[in-house]
Amino acid sequence: MEKTLDEMYPREIVEALDKYIIGQKEAKKMIAIAIRNRSRRKLLENGIGDEIVPKNIMMIGPTGVGKTEIARRIAKLANAPFLKVEATKYTEVGYVGRDVESMVKDLMGASIQLVQSEYSAKKEKEIERIVNERLLDLIIPSLENTVEITTTDVSVRDKFRELLVQKKLEDREVVMKVAPSSRVEIGVMGNGNGMDEIQEAMKNLGSIFQQPRKRKLSVKRAREILMEEEFDKSIDKDKVIEEAKKRTEEMGIIFIDEIDKIAGGSNPSSRGEVSREGVQRDILPIVEGTKVSTKWGVIDTTNILFIAAGAFSLSKPSDLIPELQGRFPIRVELSDLTADDFYRILTEPNNAITKQYEALIGTEGVKLDFTESGVRRIAELAYEVNQNTDNIGARRLYTIMERLLEEVSFEADQIVGKTIPISEEYVNERLENVVSHQDLSRYIL
Ligand SMILES: Nc1ncnc2c1ncn2[C@@H]1O[C@H](COP(=O)(O)OP(=O)(O)OP(=O)(O)O)[C@@H](O)[C@H]1O
Ligand SMILES: [Mg+2]
Repeated sequence: MEKTLDEMYPREIVEALDKYIIGQKEAKKMIAIAIRNRSRRKLLENGIGDEIVPKNIMMIGPTGVGKTEIARRIAKLANAPFLKVEATKYTEVGYVGRDVESMVKDLMGASIQLVQSEYSAKKEKEIERIVNERLLDLIIPSLENTVEITTTDVSVRDKFRELLVQKKLEDREVVMKVAPSSRVEIGVMGNGNGMDEIQEAMKNLGSIFQQPRKRKLSVKRAREILMEEEFDKSIDKDKVIEEAKKRTEEMGIIFIDEIDKIAGGSNPSSRGEVSREGVQRDILPIVEGTKVSTKWGVIDTTNILFIAAGAFSLSKPSDLIPELQGRFPIRVELSDLTADDFYRILTEPNNAITKQYEALIGTEGVKLDFTESGVRRIAELAYEVNQNTDNIGARRLYTIMERLLEEVSFEADQIVGKTIPISEEYVNERLENVVSHQDLSRYIL
């Protein structure tokens, strides 16, 4: 079994991130330490443990160097509830100050989902078994008129059970009583936004008066509904909420992206926009530690870890209100990416771009063969374009690759079965001209 985030040592967290993010050692290290410190804190006896609050982190670095990507990858590692929000969301029209608290509600929602899915993974086998029996109860009586069998026959049931397990009856139709939208109680919906919650409540109210109706369904769909039903039956909702709340408060991580976009300027920058400074002030107490009431109970934010990130190209961290700056004591800078980094980004990560294209074009029966020198050349050209026009970091690789493979993508059906070597010449032929003309690359790449 893989280790969960709270069991991992900093070194292991960094290693896990290394599989997807090239370079940025410092940032990975600081985040790994911050995450580990919270598991350490949990081991302390009451008293000193209560005094230790997480040290929030601010990641600063140019666009396209991996800030958001780091967050995305942590989210995938985490058995800790994790939420990523864009700070700019709270300056949009229609949001009012109080709504910043919705990030805590959303985090709790994520936590519930996490605990629930862990739970259902544990119970899956058992629930599947129960559901199969219920499906058999639906299928077998329907056979009575069509086939010459007695449906109490054990061997018939066994035979159908086998077919069911092998998913060979998926399209068969069964008639089943379906309760109108059964799943309501601790659903993760209706986070934050007051109107949503009201609508949700109205809907639930409505469903009380609706009777279950008989419907004709495929076995596949019936299974989905029954799985949900059985799952709801087996789950102890209070326990889930309790566990989810504990994890939110002790292990929760909120990643506030684009924090630079709410820096500077106390005046709303466009009509109707909520003032940026206002948003900063609203965020303050949450980062500081406050109690937010949600429909699942009151959540204490004191030990939630906050990671903020921003490019700060037009503003500086010191443009944030001082109180907020102080709440993010750990600063890490992410460095610009070099041509060598680009080469590694193109080839190393498990989801590397070259691998993606190979797979994509491969579906058409055309094999792309990226040679080393070819990929090096792509990396160099990407770096060059970044230097000569705007530096958009690794995102440049995407525009370059699109352009480079445009022809193959378009003509794939004409060259089925062929192998296309992506050599240095191939790259030069298609890109060199564009790259050397600044004006051209501004538009095309
Ligand atoms: N160090 C890296 N290693 C691997 N891939 C990277 C790296 N940096 C960026 N990328 C790739 O580039 C894309 C953009 O990166 P990301 O979204 O992390 O940028 P960012 O730093 O958040 O920029 P912005 O300030 O514009 O939000 C990602 O999809 C990712 O695949
Ligand atoms: Mg980003």
